[in-house]
Amino acid sequence: MKRPYAQLMSFGRCVPPKVMTNYDFAQIGIETTHEWVMERTGISERHIATLEETTCKLGAAAARIAMDRAGVQAGEVDVIILSTATPDRLLPATAVDIQAELGAKRAAAFDVSAACSGWLYALTVGEGLLLSGAAETVLVIASEKMSSIVDWTDRATCVLFGDAAGATVLKRATKGRGILSTYMRSDGTLAELLYRPAGGARVPMSDKVLAEKSHLVKMAGREVFKHAVRSMSDAADRALDGARLTGQDIDLLIPHQANVRIIEATAKHAGIPMDKVYVNVDRYGNTSSATIPVALDELIESGRVKEGSTVLLAAFGAGFTWASMVIRL
Ligand code: ACO
Repeated sequence: MKRPYAQLMSFGRCVPPKVMTNYDFAQIGIETTHEWVMERTGISERHIATLEETTCKLGAAAARIAMDRAGVQAGEVDVIILSTATPDRLLPATAVDIQAELGAKRAAAFDVSAACSGWLYALTVGEGLLLSGAAETVLVIASEKMSSIVDWTDRATCVLFGDAAGATVLKRATKGRGILSTYMRSDGTLAELLYRPAGGARVPMSDKVLAEKSHLVKMAGREVFKHAVRSMSDAADRALDGARLTGQDIDLLIPHQANVRIIEATAKHAGIPMDKVYVNVDRYGNTSSATIPVALDELIESGRVKEGSTVLLAAFGAGFTWASMVIRL
């Protein structure tokens, strides 16, 4: 008997229209150059959301496109899983705002918090719900408004991030298409290498927190870089092993888009040449967990991947968390 798979039926993305180039940082008093940012990260520009373009609105817009393409009505959605590091409010989950926005009245909705690895974590949860029979139609969304949590006076972090959302509709399938393998790990002993020190329950928001900007992202860049390369490379191996495949069987690697140097090192380790690696970090910067679904949507649209393509996904982020997956489209 063929085993059932969770199939990614369709994709959608929503990227806010406003573009900020590396040259634009001069206008907000940041001492940097296009050359510095390009050389260290490969990022040329990123999209920045307005106040009205909330995490909910971006996520719902991406979800609507994916639902239209899959021919799924809002009333058919059983579960909405939103990966985000930038919820619109701390309570309740932003997934319920998306539920209301979409009018998905029957759906259970909740957020997953696993930073840049979050969409792969959310897909894995969605796969579990489908294969256990608890759900038939799952919406898996990543929506990130990183511009709302970066310190716009810290040149070491503010140049790295951007805003975007991506989504997919997951359904059960038996034709060998869908999620072939998954892998997830975390290491909380390293949490303080990339985190927001205050503003939560441990150190609540206060005038002092605001003055010190300790509610915003702090990062030990070099340490993060080192761990990202090691963990994403390891994760890529694990997902390939889980699917009983090698790098040669893969049509495309879509790594989390944080930094082109991390991407190159991961691809080299997995034995996948750069012409089989998707890179769009130059246009979007690091949009946290939205990078992979945005890339998938672009790739389907351009025809570079299509039905039957075998794609390796790998991500790393704050936590630290890391994850990987092999999918057949
Ligand atoms: N423009 C110009 N100079 C800068 C900038 C900037 N935007 N930012 C930092 N510098 C300066 C620093 O002040 C420092 O100057 P100094 O030597 O006079 O003190 C110098 O550049 C070197 O700083 P480093 O932090 O050591 O620079 P590094 O080569 O490590 O590059 C970077 C920094 C790009 C952040 C790198 O460490 C990196 O990419 N790390 C990975 C971080 C990442 O991708 N995080 C995303 C979240 S996790 C994930 O998604 C994988």
